[in-house]
Amino acid sequence: MLARHVAAATRDALDALDARRDEPADLLAAMQGLALDIAGRSMFSMEMRRFGPAMRAMLAEYAADLSRPKLFDMLLPPSVPTLRDFARRRFSRRWMALIEATMADRLRAPPPDAPNDLFDLLRAARDPETGVGFSAEQLRDQVATMILAGHETTAVTLFWAATLLARVPAEQDAVARDETRCKAAIQETLRLFPPAFTLVRETIGADTVGGLTLRPGSVVMIAPWVLHRHRALWRDPDAFDPSRFMPGEPPPPRFAWMPFGAGPRVCVGAQFALMEAAMVLSALTERFTLSLLGDRPVLPVAVVTTQPDHPPLFQLRRRVG
Ligand code: HEM
Repeated sequence: MLARHVAAATRDALDALDARRDEPADLLAAMQGLALDIAGRSMFSMEMRRFGPAMRAMLAEYAADLSRPKLFDMLLPPSVPTLRDFARRRFSRRWMALIEATMADRLRAPPPDAPNDLFDLLRAARDPETGVGFSAEQLRDQVATMILAGHETTAVTLFWAATLLARVPAEQDAVARDETRCKAAIQETLRLFPPAFTLVRETIGADTVGGLTLRPGSVVMIAPWVLHRHRALWRDPDAFDPSRFMPGEPPPPRFAWMPFGAGPRVCVGAQFALMEAAMVLSALTERFTLSLLGDRPVLPVAVVTTQPDHPPLFQLRRRVG
């Protein structure tokens, strides 16, 4: 049901890249635009032509400023709000208002007989124990969360995959030819550049982990970034080698690869994200060969997700044959 929305949005984005393929391409911006379009269209069939630009503008505004932690965010306990926290709350109200406006038309129409998208599924969902559905407010919160959680993560995954592949033309050919190899390249990208570089928990009771005693209320940070590149867990950990995820290879230890987290709060969108990323990467490499312009290294920086320090430019050429 969702794949057809992904395919349509991808076709539009690739046509736009194709039309300007003589110019250097900013694939970070292109993938962010595409992932937001996919989140809007496939999950909620939203009228992205009407609301997409406003959403994109708000997300860019947040990424440029409020998303970045500053000194006071680090020094003060969460119970003491900073001026930036007040700005974040104002921003949150504006974002929720935009989501409400986007959902309004859908809520006025009666639900369809068969679901067309995730919004229809959420609207029809009932608590298995109480039989109660989502309130309007809960539905809005689900939509707001899923758009945010679901698009930037997938966009950076696709960006890093393109950056890694740009340096190895033979691997690009393999990914363009073979869907299994394409999925393995996505998994390998998520290993080297996990968008969620750390997960944070607060202990609710005392515990002992790896010989350390934790008191209740301790902050525990689990770093997929470190686990994914750990020499004790991976052979040649810094090398980009999708073959480690090919069928027949021994699977990594359960907690050595966890780009989607683990346990009760594991990512609800993991299967969707893997399907989406593989479909987009496959279509991108089938249509174009990618190379990086210039040789400035692209370094990862931790800004909510694992972002590049600058958006490098790519040259796209139509793939022959
Ligand atoms: C490559 C893409 C993605 C990555 C790397 C990713 C990563 C993660 C991680 C690591 C968590 C767990 C956070 C924690 O334990 O503290 C998480 C949770 C979550 N993700 Fe994703 N995600 C991706 C795509 C998506 C998509 C497409 C959606 C929407 C459909 C989504 C929705 C969510 C939601 C709602 C949660 C919270 C689940 C809960 O707390 O019960 N994610 N994601």
